[in-house]
Amino acid sequence: MKIPFSPPYIDEAVINEVVDSLRSGWITSGPKVKALEEEIKVFSNAKEVLCVNSWTSGAIMMLRWLGVTAEDEVIVPAYTYSATALAVLHAGAKPVMVDSGEDFNISVDAIRKAITPRTKAIIPVDIAGFPCDYDRIMRLVNEPEIRNLFQATSLVQEKLGRILVMNDAAHSLGAYYSKNQRTGCETDIAIFSLHAVKNVTTAEGGAICLNLPEPFDNAELYKELRMMSLNCQTKDAFSKSKAGGWRYDIVGLGMKINMADVNAAIGLAQIREYPELLKERKRVFNTYSKAFADCDWAILPPSEDGEKESSYHIYALRIKDFTEEQRDRMIDEIAKSEVAVNVHFIPMPMLSFFSSLGYDIKNYPQAYENFKGEISLPIYPQLDEEKLDFIIKAVKDAYLKVTVDR
Ligand SMILES: Cc1ncc(COP(=O)(O)O)c(C=O)c1O
Repeated sequence: MKIPFSPPYIDEAVINEVVDSLRSGWITSGPKVKALEEEIKVFSNAKEVLCVNSWTSGAIMMLRWLGVTAEDEVIVPAYTYSATALAVLHAGAKPVMVDSGEDFNISVDAIRKAITPRTKAIIPVDIAGFPCDYDRIMRLVNEPEIRNLFQATSLVQEKLGRILVMNDAAHSLGAYYSKNQRTGCETDIAIFSLHAVKNVTTAEGGAICLNLPEPFDNAELYKELRMMSLNCQTKDAFSKSKAGGWRYDIVGLGMKINMADVNAAIGLAQIREYPELLKERKRVFNTYSKAFADCDWAILPPSEDGEKESSYHIYALRIKDFTEEQRDRMIDEIAKSEVAVNVHFIPMPMLSFFSSLGYDIKNYPQAYENFKGEISLPIYPQLDEEKLDFIIKAVKDAYLKVTVDR
């Protein structure tokens, strides 16, 4: 039985919504994008939501809006997908990497130690869909000593008066940060990815949730950023296409990162079904956890803690006391059963580009520990009991094979 790692969820509702966009005579940014923004707003309780063409481009734009420069530092976890730090570099600032905890998420103690007068933002990442400790992070940036240390070097920074918290919520659409409160409104800015493998997708896409404190006006900011995502052009293509509406101006250096309606249509159909799809992801997650609970070699990933609950985006199994080489052999064994698994993530300091910049994995022992025995199992609504039994057997057999042969 062939088990792919993460096929998109495309049903008739998705196809109909895309066809509707194609037949409408308008395929780029327009009513479908607006409708998707409204759906995500309701879902996440964010004050405003702006859809763009990826998480990465959205993060670069928000850091440019913050006005970071080469002198500025942005704290990121070493254990994440590289886009988190690449966005900081693209925006022209320095990523300061810190270690993570055993739950895969950034260590708040490590954040505290890394803060300097140059720190302008922190990008915590909800790894696998499990929310970070935002109460502690928001309290930290609001501590009087930390606020006093902060040195604003742009108008936006001055207005905020403290370090910005912009969470990388690429994985966590639908997660609960607190009881009855989903992720997307717990920090200044949260960005979801709507990339093809995410729980809700637009093929490629991102959604920027705005929750800036006063004196920011999030509705005004939405308009400003929407324009910024369209080359800082005063009129979008939809308004310009109307009879007599041709004249426009360019009022700044923007980016061209708007989402198209034809993409938004996919996400629009999916998000309407998402509460049900999320239950299916949870079913898959819990089936794995139950199956591996009595294996003393398995470290199960976190899913619920107090009021927090994951979005069940990745099932990050870890094999106790395994070396990297053993983990890799186990993946090869699983592949023989035609089950596609993955590793989330290779810590950034282990990637050539980041090590060429001087980042060294020796400084991030927990990130390495989390990585060396990690195997991500397939998790999506289409996995029925038969397929799950097959995957679980493939994983258990592979473990035995590797440990017997060692
Ligand atoms: C943690 C994390 N951050 C950022 C991204 C980048 O998202 P996008 O592909 O939408 O730019 C990803 C994508 O997989 C991710 O896993």
